[in-house]
Amino acid sequence: MNKFLIAPSIIASDFTHLADEIAACESAGADWLHMDIMDGHFVPTITIGPLFVEACKRATKLPLDVHLMISNPDQYLEAFAKAGANTLTVHVETCPNLLQTIEKIKSLGCKAGITLNPLTPASALDVALPLVDLVLVMSVTPGYSGQSFMPEMIGKVEEIRNKLNALRSQAWLEVDGGIIAETLPLMYKAGANVFVAGNAAFKHPQGVGAGIKLLRECVAD
Ligand code: DX5
Ligand code: ZN
Repeated sequence: MNKFLIAPSIIASDFTHLADEIAACESAGADWLHMDIMDGHFVPTITIGPLFVEACKRATKLPLDVHLMISNPDQYLEAFAKAGANTLTVHVETCPNLLQTIEKIKSLGCKAGITLNPLTPASALDVALPLVDLVLVMSVTPGYSGQSFMPEMIGKVEEIRNKLNALRSQAWLEVDGGIIAETLPLMYKAGANVFVAGNAAFKHPQGVGAGIKLLRECVAD
């Protein structure tokens, strides 16, 4: 059993060889596939939607970890659940009725995740924390792969880890943005146990297998 999970972020892959990229993630021992859904509204970029998620679902048995960076996510939960999402993670900034949104995700048969932008305080999660299966801490401002890690987010992970422990919650604590072999151990020590990797996985000069291996081995025993 690995001591933490690795979730390669598919938007950093080569879409002209999508099935091969996914197969390489599987062979390298990736745990989940992270899917960054961006709408050009909540974040400036437009990426992928349910059709793409559904295609990935047909290409892999790995759980699909779907990160919704979209306005009005409630309107699209069902489409992403039908497309094969295992986890649906929403930004608290986009959910005026967060508790209802979490219930809706669960009623669709998915694990429910919540996330927050770097400038949003951890306290924004408090009411929802006992109900969720996953908390995602953004360690970059969402919008693009390949940005630099924000070290200020280490303290936020520690704070959320303490809150989850106080609740005796088994929820995953995931981090996303600028995770490389130098930053992963810092977030692991702070209490994170799932690591999203875009560039560090797919843009490794020796390929995605080498990228994932490096991340897997970067935490000293
Ligand atoms: C950021 C996305 C990330 C991103 C990670 O907006 O949510 O998942 O693709 O890419 P890296 O690991 O390259 O920062
Ligand atoms: Zn993401």
